[in-house]
Amino acid sequence: MEQGYKKYRPFQPIGFSQRTWPDQVIRRAPIWCSVDLRDGNQALVTPMNLHRKVVFFKTLVAIGFKEIEVGFPAASETEFETIRYLIEENLIPDDVTVQVLVQARRHLIERTFEAIRGAKNVILHFYNSTSTLQRKVVFGTDMEGVIEIAVEAAALIREMGEQLRAEFPEMRLRYEYSPESFSGTEVENAVNICDRVLETLGATPEDKAIINLPNTVELATPNCYADQVEYVATHLQHRDCAVLSIHPHNDRGTATAAAELGIMAGAERVEGTIFGNGERTGNCDLMNLAMNLYAQGVDPTLDFTNMNHIKRVYEECTRMHVHERHPYVGELVFTAFSGSHQDAINKGVTYMAENGSKYWEVPYLPIDPADLGRQYEPIIRINSQSGKGGAAFVMHRHFGYILPKQMHAEFGAVVQAVCDREGRELKAEEVFRIFQREYLHVHKPFDLRRYRLFEENEKLDRVVVYFDGVLSRDGQDIQLSGRGNGPINAFFNALGSVGITGYKFVSYSEHAVSTGADSQAVSYIELSRGDDTVFGVGLDHNISLSSIKGILCAINRFERHAAQPKE
Ligand code: KIV
Ligand code: ZN
Repeated sequence: MEQGYKKYRPFQPIGFSQRTWPDQVIRRAPIWCSVDLRDGNQALVTPMNLHRKVVFFKTLVAIGFKEIEVGFPAASETEFETIRYLIEENLIPDDVTVQVLVQARRHLIERTFEAIRGAKNVILHFYNSTSTLQRKVVFGTDMEGVIEIAVEAAALIREMGEQLRAEFPEMRLRYEYSPESFSGTEVENAVNICDRVLETLGATPEDKAIINLPNTVELATPNCYADQVEYVATHLQHRDCAVLSIHPHNDRGTATAAAELGIMAGAERVEGTIFGNGERTGNCDLMNLAMNLYAQGVDPTLDFTNMNHIKRVYEECTRMHVHERHPYVGELVFTAFSGSHQDAINKGVTYMAENGSKYWEVPYLPIDPADLGRQYEPIIRINSQSGKGGAAFVMHRHFGYILPKQMHAEFGAVVQAVCDREGRELKAEEVFRIFQREYLHVHKPFDLRRYRLFEENEKLDRVVVYFDGVLSRDGQDIQLSGRGNGPINAFFNALGSVGITGYKFVSYSEHAVSTGADSQAVSYIELSRGDDTVFGVGLDHNISLSSIKGILCAINRFERHAAQPKE
């Protein structure tokens, strides 16, 4: 749309000149609260069933989360069942608090209280939306109306909580309130509603309530959110009765930065998900945040040393895929493709070994992959999981062979079959040996013994190419000759003259390749027979002979495939 951007209003920063967050340094980890099983789960195409939720819950516990939002029990039977199952099967360790979410509505709150009966440590998290936009377009109410909803809910929760505590004196029940869509709310209004809720809940410095400030939709640059967080942190009347929490989302792709600035601005607690799953573009990625701390020498209090396993559980439970470039966890984040990077990394590792460095000093690797149970991979990995382009990449990068795009899948499958058979990754040299065996050293059933190519001018402006040669088939010599408008065409016609037919020429490409001291021509020939297509490769100092070898290679490969027993 022409000038479509004009329909958007710029975010108005709050103009908070007393801010101190830009000078802060994060020296310790915040309190972490995973919302994978709630915010993350509600954003899945197929939400997790009970079994997957339990597996995920156990993994979060193993990582070290002490606060885990396990669901929205009033929202569905599965959600209700999950919390009941965790409680009744005694799956919640004593040092772990389960959190449940509920809207500020009476019947939902009542149902939520039923769900948490008998649990040891619970955070009851309630919310209502407070933003200017939602007040206008969703609720058609003013701020007073929104405060009333929150305060009424807080009063009911306090009353029901007191009854429950009386019934279960061992229970540690805490409360959390979120002015949902906080970052779209006037800061004065946000402070006011949070203070009113803290008062109504009866929060004290000894029995604090959590005030959670969601960046429900990330509306602006992270510094704007940090200003808003610091404003609340410094203007809450009952600040000493609150644990200040943040809940960034990732609509602008800057949730990690917003969380870091939010902590610098005074947040003591962060809600998010591992790997950033969550509504729309996701929640703040707590693994990313924790590992950023780790890489600054701060104990993150979460343990990702078994990263590959955590990733596997995450992918199985959520049916989501972790991107190859995802910080710390992506398949490719410890792989160096560039030769100069590989060189610098090797030098860093050698330097550390020789100097007994106490600190990690390796260029291009911000952290030691071994800390995450991973390895530095100096080349693209070739294993049975490799993509079809991986083998072609190695051929190009290490040996200078530029396989045509259409050939990537074919050669990838050949390499993959070897990986599967061997059950291990392959080195670049091994990939090259497979290439030689598969394409360059194929002399059966047909082998070219002798040949002669020559040109004649049939007319002044028309050149005809002649091929004469001897081909051996399983040791028996066959004389053949043909003519055409070029060497390939002449050879094809010569093959036809001795009954080697049925092949169609599909594509051809060639380039020079350095083979040690000199350079040769490499030709890639794609032939079809019926519905099948196959590549052949020829290598020779003479470019015409390299194409002829390529044709013969493709035919030999067709014959070989035909001779193989069908599965
Ligand atoms: O993003 C959000 O605002 C939420 C609240 C319910 C905390 O998920
Ligand atoms: Zn959220």
